[in-house]
Amino acid sequence: MADGESAVSAVLITGCSSGIGRATALRLARRPGSVVYATARRPADIADLEQMGCRTLALDVTDEASMASAVQTIEAAHGAVDVLVNNAGYSQSGAVEAVPLDRVRAQFETNVFGPLRLTQLVLPAMRRRRRGTVVNLSSMGGKLVFPGGGVYHATKYAIEALSDALRFEVAGFGIRVVIVEPGLIRTAFSDAALGAMRGADDAVYGEFHAAVGRTTANAYSQGLSRKLSGTPDDVARVIERAIAARRPKTRYRVAPSATLFLNLRRVLGDRGWDRFLRGVYPSPGANRTD
Ligand SMILES: NC(=O)c1ccc[n+]([C@@H]2O[C@H](COP(=O)([O-])OP(=O)(O)OC[C@H]3O[C@@H](n4cnc5c(N)ncnc54)[C@H](OP(=O)(O)O)[C@@H]3O)[C@@H](O)[C@H]2O)c1
Repeated sequence: MADGESAVSAVLITGCSSGIGRATALRLARRPGSVVYATARRPADIADLEQMGCRTLALDVTDEASMASAVQTIEAAHGAVDVLVNNAGYSQSGAVEAVPLDRVRAQFETNVFGPLRLTQLVLPAMRRRRRGTVVNLSSMGGKLVFPGGGVYHATKYAIEALSDALRFEVAGFGIRVVIVEPGLIRTAFSDAALGAMRGADDAVYGEFHAAVGRTTANAYSQGLSRKLSGTPDDVARVIERAIAARRPKTRYRVAPSATLFLNLRRVLGDRGWDRFLRGVYPSPGANRTD
C-alpha cells in the first residue's frame, strides 16, 4: 500500500466519458478523503478529468484484461476498491424479433456480464477488509418495460436480480449493495439508443421503430416528460448520498419521471399498463392485412 493512502477511500467508476459516470466522478472527486478512479474505454475521452481531481484508467467492461488491470492498479495503491460504481451501459433498442442476436449478446456483455465480472473482481479484497460498497446503475426500466426496449430492459431486470441476491450474500462481510433507478436523465443515452436501433430496422417493424425513436427523442426534449427528467448530477448527488449513508437504502429512484412511471405501473397493473402503452406507441401488425 502506498504511503498515506490507507485512510482514503478508493472509488472506481465505469463509463466516465459522458453523462452520469462523468458527473459522478466530478462530484465524488470533490469529497475529502476519496480518490476517484474515473475510467473509460478511450482514455483520451477522460483526460480532462485528471485536472479536476480524478485519476484515470482505461477500462472496457467487455474486456476481462482491462477490468483486471484496473482493479490490480487500485488494489496495489490502496489495498482494495472501497466503492465500485457500475455505471457503463447503453440501450440496444428495437423490437424483440428484429434485434440481431449478436447485438443482444453485445448488450448483455456491456450491461450485465461486465458489471457482474467487475464486481467479482473487487469482492475478494473487499471481503478481506470486511467493508465496501457496490453501486449498480439500474433504471426505472429495471422495474417496467417500454415497447421497443425489451432487450435493454432485460439487462436492467437482470441487474436488479443480481443486486438483490448479492446484497444478501455479501452483507455478512460488511459489504453494501445499492441499486440506483434513474428515470429520464438528459445525457447522450437517448442518442445512443436511437443510433443502436438504426441498424435493426426491417420491413415489418420499420414504422414501429420510427415511432419508438420519435417517442424516445421527445421524452427527453419536449413537454411534461422533459420537465420530469433529471440531470446527470441529480444521479451523482444520489450516489454520493448512498455512499455516505451509514445504512443506505436498497433502492434509490432519481428524477420525478421515475416516481411517476413506477407508481403508474404499480397502480395500472399489467392490463392497464398495456392499455396506457397502446395510447403512446403504434401496435406493430395491428393495421396490416398480410
Ligand atoms: N440517461 C437515462 O435516461 C438513464 C436512465 C436510467 C438508467 N440509465 C443508466 O445510466 C448509465 C449511464 O448512462 P448515461 O445516461 O450516462 O449515458 P451516456 O452518457 O451514453 O454514458 C454511457 C457511458 O457508458 C460507457 N460505455 C458504453 N459501453 C462501454 C464499455 N464496453 N466499457 C466501458 N464503458 C462503456 C460510454 O462510453 P463510450 O463513450 O466509450 O461509449 C459512456 O461513458 C447506464 O447504465 C444507463 O443504462 C440512464
